[in-house]
Amino acid sequence: MKFEIKDRDAAGRICKFSAKHGTVTTPNLMPVINPNKMLITPKEMKKLFGVEIVITNSYIINKDVKLKEKALSKGVHKLIDFDGTIMTDSGTFQSYIYGDVEVDPLEIVEFQRDIGSDIGTILDVFGKPNQTKTEAEQGIKETLKRAKQSVKLKGDMNLACTVQGSIYSDLREKCAKELSKIDADFYPIGGVVPLMENQRYTDLVRCILSSKKGLDPSKPVHLFGAGHPLTFPLAVALGCDFFDSSAYVKYANDSRMLFYWGTEKLENLTELPCSCPVCSKYTASELKKLGKKEKILEIAKHNLYVSFAEIKKIRNAIANGNLWELVERRANSNPYLLEALRELRLRENKEFLEQFEPISKNKALFYTGSQTIHRPLVYRCHNRLLKRYKPAFKDTVAFPEGGKPYTSYYFEKINKVLGKADVNILVDSHLGPVPLELDEMYPFAQSVFPDITDKETEEEVTKIFDDFTQNKNMICWKGNKTLEEIKGSIKKGFNGDVHRISAVSDMQFGRGTGKALLNGKIRVVKSKKTNKIRNVYCNEKHILSMRANDGMFTLKMDGARLLHKHFKYPKLRVIVEKDAVPFVKDGKSVFAKFVKDCDSELRPYDECLIVNEKDNLLAVGRCLLNKFEMYSFNYGMAVKIREH
Ligand code: GUN
Ligand code: ZN
Repeated sequence: MKFEIKDRDAAGRICKFSAKHGTVTTPNLMPVINPNKMLITPKEMKKLFGVEIVITNSYIINKDVKLKEKALSKGVHKLIDFDGTIMTDSGTFQSYIYGDVEVDPLEIVEFQRDIGSDIGTILDVFGKPNQTKTEAEQGIKETLKRAKQSVKLKGDMNLACTVQGSIYSDLREKCAKELSKIDADFYPIGGVVPLMENQRYTDLVRCILSSKKGLDPSKPVHLFGAGHPLTFPLAVALGCDFFDSSAYVKYANDSRMLFYWGTEKLENLTELPCSCPVCSKYTASELKKLGKKEKILEIAKHNLYVSFAEIKKIRNAIANGNLWELVERRANSNPYLLEALRELRLRENKEFLEQFEPISKNKALFYTGSQTIHRPLVYRCHNRLLKRYKPAFKDTVAFPEGGKPYTSYYFEKINKVLGKADVNILVDSHLGPVPLELDEMYPFAQSVFPDITDKETEEEVTKIFDDFTQNKNMICWKGNKTLEEIKGSIKKGFNGDVHRISAVSDMQFGRGTGKALLNGKIRVVKSKKTNKIRNVYCNEKHILSMRANDGMFTLKMDGARLLHKHFKYPKLRVIVEKDAVPFVKDGKSVFAKFVKDCDSELRPYDECLIVNEKDNLLAVGRCLLNKFEMYSFNYGMAVKIREH
């Protein structure tokens, strides 16, 4: 099995998963195939919806003499006539639904291996939500025991070991940690179907987060039994890679249609609010009048069209860097989901999610509601303002929110203020305090808020503003009369550009880096068109380039040398093994398996220094993974080299 990250946003990721029957892009959905009753064949699914992976049930195959014989002699791919990737489940779910069923936990793994399943599942013990903690603990113990025994039998089949633990976060995390120690290939999160059926999305979020906290980040994660597109965006944002859907048939059987905002009964629809081929072919009344069998088939197709459309939207959102927006918009269509999003306001969850959050994005941050201010990236930004930013002067003048960039919007007023005395200037923005020097940096410039936000955002921003301005002498701009309050003098030689470069550097690379980088004769090259800073030279050495899209720096080799000298090992560094050094010196990417160590504060798409084991600087690059991931992944790129 090969699994590598190609792109990412929030804690979601676009990956390539490769097994014997080809490569699958994640996030992805596996339609459930009932080998006894194929409403739509896998082959047709591939044609209609681009299905790359399906899931079927080895317990059902094993129980039926004919199916069993064919599966054993011809293989599961022939049995269901599909040449793509096939996952099989084990019978756990049947034992949850029907009570004790006769399955031997090890025989069913061997059976899955013998029929040529690409991903087989252990017979985990389904942890029901209403279990006591002791019951949940016992279930985990048995699941772990079976997982350990099953691994020895997997052969060349990939083995899925399910995380259980009922609704007890500590048990889930522990179970995930233990399972990550064994040689498994795939990690489903199990026991969550009853939570989803009852729209207990807050509990679902807790289950996903606690499982993810304990799981090896380099392995695919599957949310078992999640087939409603409503839950896909949030689950992906929290780090789920796969879903499986039997919902498309189950719902079709009683004329219920899936939509990204929820479920609609066909009988209640006067129009079909969808443009899939099915809904384009029929009017609502025509669809209602179809014969029973045909109606089920057509609704099942609609359900799959809608589900795969949502998967595609999610992948687009990851590539564009606006997955959180999609999550928030979807949550706004279901109060239970909206409630579940509140779980992400907890500090410990923000801290966990922040580790996976890219440093900047292709698209501006769009406000969607009171959840936006709680995004992990905003949390990071506020933390960095408090810990990394250092004002130049004693007094500060604060302007209210205005047009962007603030420097141009307040140009005349700023000049008047700075004509009186040397003061710091900041804007009390919808996103929190924005020092003027940072007004081109992501997300301060690249964010869009309505003029009036909401009470919660205002309170959160006020809290940050108060923390940020604590013990500082603040003057709030109230028009020209404020000028009289400004006291002090003007020191000659204050250079606004240098100050801006220094402040952005401190925010991006760490406090004090501005000073370390700008220790010499500075020359700044600006864009002729926009007058924005483009390139920075220190003693005629090119140290930094400022990116036009996010106002952050690309680190040049000469800048990297200065930061290498400034920061002690392992700060800002990715340390590569000896074997990888010649490749790095050749400008090739650093693969995750060659990373020996790295700075725990590096985040996806951060600039980093690549060094050898003796801490000699080899190159400068941009990392795709954080430390946690660099340690775990055996495949794929960890750092893209920029200069060497
Ligand atoms: N299908 C839905 N939930 C589960 C689960 O918890 N375990 C397994 N093996 N299959 C499932
Ligand atoms: Zn439709």
